Amino acid sequence: MQTFLVTGAAGFIGSHSVEGLLARDCRVIGVDNLRTGHLENLEIARTSPHFMWVLADAGDEAAMRVLFEQHRFAGVLHLAALVSVPESFREPALNYQLNLAAADSIARLCLEFECRRLVFASSAAVYGADAALPNRESAIPQPQSPYAAAKLAAEVMLLGYAASYGLEAVCLRYFNVYGPRQDPGSPYSGVLSIFTDRLRNGLPVTVYGDGEQTRDFISVRDVARANGEALTQAQVAAGRYNVSTGQGISLNEVLAIYQELFPNTLPINYAVARIGDIRHSRGDPEQLRNLLGFSAQTPFAQGLRELVLGYSEENRA
Ligand code: UD1
Repeated sequence: MQTFLVTGAAGFIGSHSVEGLLARDCRVIGVDNLRTGHLENLEIARTSPHFMWVLADAGDEAAMRVLFEQHRFAGVLHLAALVSVPESFREPALNYQLNLAAADSIARLCLEFECRRLVFASSAAVYGADAALPNRESAIPQPQSPYAAAKLAAEVMLLGYAASYGLEAVCLRYFNVYGPRQDPGSPYSGVLSIFTDRLRNGLPVTVYGDGEQTRDFISVRDVARANGEALTQAQVAAGRYNVSTGQGISLNEVLAIYQELFPNTLPINYAVARIGDIRHSRGDPEQLRNLLGFSAQTPFAQGLRELVLGYSEENRA
């Protein structure tokens, strides 16, 4: 049985990824400092004898070294991060520490302890607002936030180690991930977590702009599967890969689906567009398909319905 380290395990994507790995008969050591993760997210994982939970900061090299000494990791999924773009503007030093320095330190531990596979959580944010559509990995990245800059810099460091030492660094650029356990707590949380939370509570939603902006929404189940494939497939080429559906969906189309699910109440406020908001975002999923044979399987309407209707854990495929 192979053992994997997952950092940011108690987060939204982390907890789903841990469950996916356990379902593949892997052992998982899950690390989180609970800065933005929640232990409740690991309720299911913690019932497995093959899961071990560790409260630690992924950037704490001494603490991580102990884990690398104790286990022979077949791979590391590094998801721990400062996840809020606005917070990265307010706290650039912390952004550097959590989004770049921690990735570098994890990568060096992988090299030292001969763990060849490192899957890194990057972001579509690296493309910036003006990139040609669909976003292709070959585009010149134009980060427009400290967050995006650190994610891009971490990709570059890891791919440098890939070229220098043979690290199998798979940098996954997630597009707009949605699904159960996404925290709706801040105005900058993912739009679907906010809409779902508000509509469930009978509260009106606000659309910034005319609602014609489009996003490539991808289900966290598909993202967890991509992570699992990237960690466990025997052969990969180090590189940067979009994790996307290739489909753009407008907020107005999203709201039409909500309308079916909440037929009686849907007060929508339209407000001015957010400063710096991207008009259209859509990834080209071809490279990841070539690498892993991966393509997103959850149709958006189905994924949204499952999210809204309180997708029960027992129903999970
Ligand atoms: C996403 C990422 C962000 C990244 C950016 C660029 C998330 C949560 N954010 O931002 O980290 O920098 O991609 O790749 O994944 N909206 C409303 N009403 C609301 C909330 C949002 O109309 O209550 C609108 C926003 O103005 C935006 C769209 O919904 O047009 C999506 O917003 P959001 O979920 O925050 O994601 P991105 O802006 O795409």
